[in-house]
Amino acid sequence: MTRVVSHRIETVSGTLTMPGDKSISHRALIIGASAVGETKIYGLLEAGDVMATALALRNLGADVKKNSDGSWSVFGRGVGGLSEPTEILDMGNSGTGVRLLMGLVAAHPFNTIFSGDTSLCARPMGRVIYPLRRMGAGFNAHSGDTLPLIVQGSDMLRPVTEALTVASAQVKSAILLAGLNTRGQTTVVEAFPSRDHSENMLEAFGAEISIVEEERGKAITLTGYPELLAQNISIPGDFSSAAFPMVAALITPGDGILINNVCLNSLRKGLLDTLLEMGAKINIKHHDVLSGEQVGDILVKFGLLKGVRVPSERAPKMIDEYPILAVAAACAEGKTVFEGVSELRLKESDRLSAISRGLAACDVEVDETKDSISITGKGKAPLGGGHILSNMDHRVAMAFLVLGMVTEKPIIVDDAAYIDTSFPGFIEVMNGLGGDLRAGVEL
Ligand code: S3P
Repeated sequence: MTRVVSHRIETVSGTLTMPGDKSISHRALIIGASAVGETKIYGLLEAGDVMATALALRNLGADVKKNSDGSWSVFGRGVGGLSEPTEILDMGNSGTGVRLLMGLVAAHPFNTIFSGDTSLCARPMGRVIYPLRRMGAGFNAHSGDTLPLIVQGSDMLRPVTEALTVASAQVKSAILLAGLNTRGQTTVVEAFPSRDHSENMLEAFGAEISIVEEERGKAITLTGYPELLAQNISIPGDFSSAAFPMVAALITPGDGILINNVCLNSLRKGLLDTLLEMGAKINIKHHDVLSGEQVGDILVKFGLLKGVRVPSERAPKMIDEYPILAVAAACAEGKTVFEGVSELRLKESDRLSAISRGLAACDVEVDETKDSISITGKGKAPLGGGHILSNMDHRVAMAFLVLGMVTEKPIIVDDAAYIDTSFPGFIEVMNGLGGDLRAGVEL
């Protein structure tokens, strides 16, 4: 356990670059492993979650290695070309890694056993198991459709048309990855569009993907047995990581901060839209496209924020950003309501309850229902002083350490070790901006 205490500071300023996008990093490794030839990846996120995926792919027979120039190479086995692992694939804390790989191996004629840490073993896998079962794969899971589980894969899966019952890019991607080694057309219909990195990258590798807007939602169809050809991929900075210094700069006086080269995929930017509605001083400069994804530099300045209502339709576009938005809301003037966010209970921890318990411990007025939360701020930093249990959840830990940068009393986070699953170097980055985060401090 690495306890970290975040103390109040007066100002933040600086220019920074974020580690690579986590979602795109997983996909670059996985799709690279399914292509023919050497895929070179620049800017891969070297964090626990992505490393678990890299190791799993090695166990599945793909050669994945880091080069001396810092790039990574994946020597793909072609669609359907992976081999039966001799070990249990331990996916650590990573929901994305396990769910995407479950889809990939479901269309291979061998058995794969997945496990993970206690947080991952508590998360629901039925959402991936059921559609893949309809395609013909077999599963033997721990009770409640959780890990550890065995996937009994097959190279004779049936193509399906699957209307998603939960807005989830992980479920969508798992089905599409299974569709790669499946004859015919596999279709996923999403009523509420989620991040489309899988579709973008599969297309860039040569897969045939069609997207049709239907009355019931967005229908994404992949034609099976594509010849995927290895690519060079440059991974932009992770918007979900940038969210932490962004909110720090919004709530702390100073010259503001500039974050370069951040992924601005339109299906990931819900937090930006929400903060702008709250009156945040944020400007996007220097738009560009990097490996098929929109990127830009984000300039953020301190200013008063106002409470807003965040509608449930926006949730898929900002699903990982609610903990840090809660911190902005705690410092804003008036009430902010997150509506229709029961999915937050199924993340690395129950984030609705983590937000409400943590904010209440920092003297913030908060009201939680089964699928919503309302936070009433006073237009200034709350008192703070909370002792936060992060429950193996990186984003809960980071969010409360950001809040501690402005509260009168320091905020203690019990264990910051899990921050490394998505944002290695977080403490150094925040301290570089002027933060006073002290690791390993005794109570
Ligand atoms: C992700 C999708 C989201 C998100 C996760 C990354 C992805 O999960 O919370 O951090 O890379 O596809 P859901 O698919 O469960 O919404």
